[in-house]
Amino acid sequence: MSLHTPKILLEHVAITFGKRLVVQDISLALQEHDLLCIVGPSGCGKTTLLRAVAGLMPLSRGRILLDGAAITRPTSRIAMIFQHFGLFPWKTVRANIEYGLSVQGRRDENGIAMRLLEVMGLAEFAQCYPYELSGGMQQRVGIARALAVQPEVLLLDEPFSAVDAITREMLQGELIRLWEDPQRRQTTAILVTHDLDEAILLGDRIVVLGSTGQLCLDLNVPIPRPRTPQNLRFHAAYPQLRNQIWEALHGSGNVPYQIKNYPTIS
Ligand SMILES: Nc1ncnc2c1ncn2[C@@H]1O[C@H](COP(=O)(O)OP(=O)(O)O)[C@@H](O)[C@H]1O
Ligand SMILES: [Mg+2]
Repeated sequence: MSLHTPKILLEHVAITFGKRLVVQDISLALQEHDLLCIVGPSGCGKTTLLRAVAGLMPLSRGRILLDGAAITRPTSRIAMIFQHFGLFPWKTVRANIEYGLSVQGRRDENGIAMRLLEVMGLAEFAQCYPYELSGGMQQRVGIARALAVQPEVLLLDEPFSAVDAITREMLQGELIRLWEDPQRRQTTAILVTHDLDEAILLGDRIVVLGSTGQLCLDLNVPIPRPRTPQNLRFHAAYPQLRNQIWEALHGSGNVPYQIKNYPTIS
């Protein structure tokens, strides 16, 4: 693998459901430790695209490469955090977090699960079941579970959309702290959100998908870290950046939050 091989490379990716094209000709390259945010209206194919990167969705055209090799099936090198937690209701919080390790045939010898539970402020809930936790706590368990395996690539599908605003801010901060932690493996992350400000807060780079699954904007976030929702808004680059993304989201032919006529392929 050369120094310049991207960690993740999407080449002309298209995905169809039946004859309906929901992801159109997406090409993207991510280097190791990039944090890319994908923003787009509801139904534009964000989840579908993320599932494809996770090896869960066949492509109609193009290919997706991890370190130069095609991703054709799920791999433990890539972990995904779903919008609705995806916890096993019959396992305790701790067992849910250890699950990822056990799938890889690993035992939690270094107490990774408990350490992450402490970081997430959940240590005292280790023996509880998911139904005993609030939505925000369940999502923290979901994040801890994905992080426990120290994946090379972390895919997050609207990870904070189901939690309240205060919990969201806390989790966003926690995610960045873990992502930046020099003790951990350098994780490359793709985070899907429909929240423009979340994308600017978290991303090194932001990609906007149009309402029919096409790439309409790809830009770097020129605002240094650490970023907070407060200091972000006062940064000189913020208004123009936000406006650019907003324009792309609402640009010509883009009809957010409505059912569109999807193109079909023959
Ligand atoms: N399993 C499926 N079968 C058929 N159509 C699907 C399936 N999953 C998603 N879709 C459709 O594909 C489009 C993109 O969906 P999705 O990727 O979930 O969008 P987003 O995550 O951006 O809201 C939507 O119109 C959705 O209805
Ligand atoms: Mg989705």
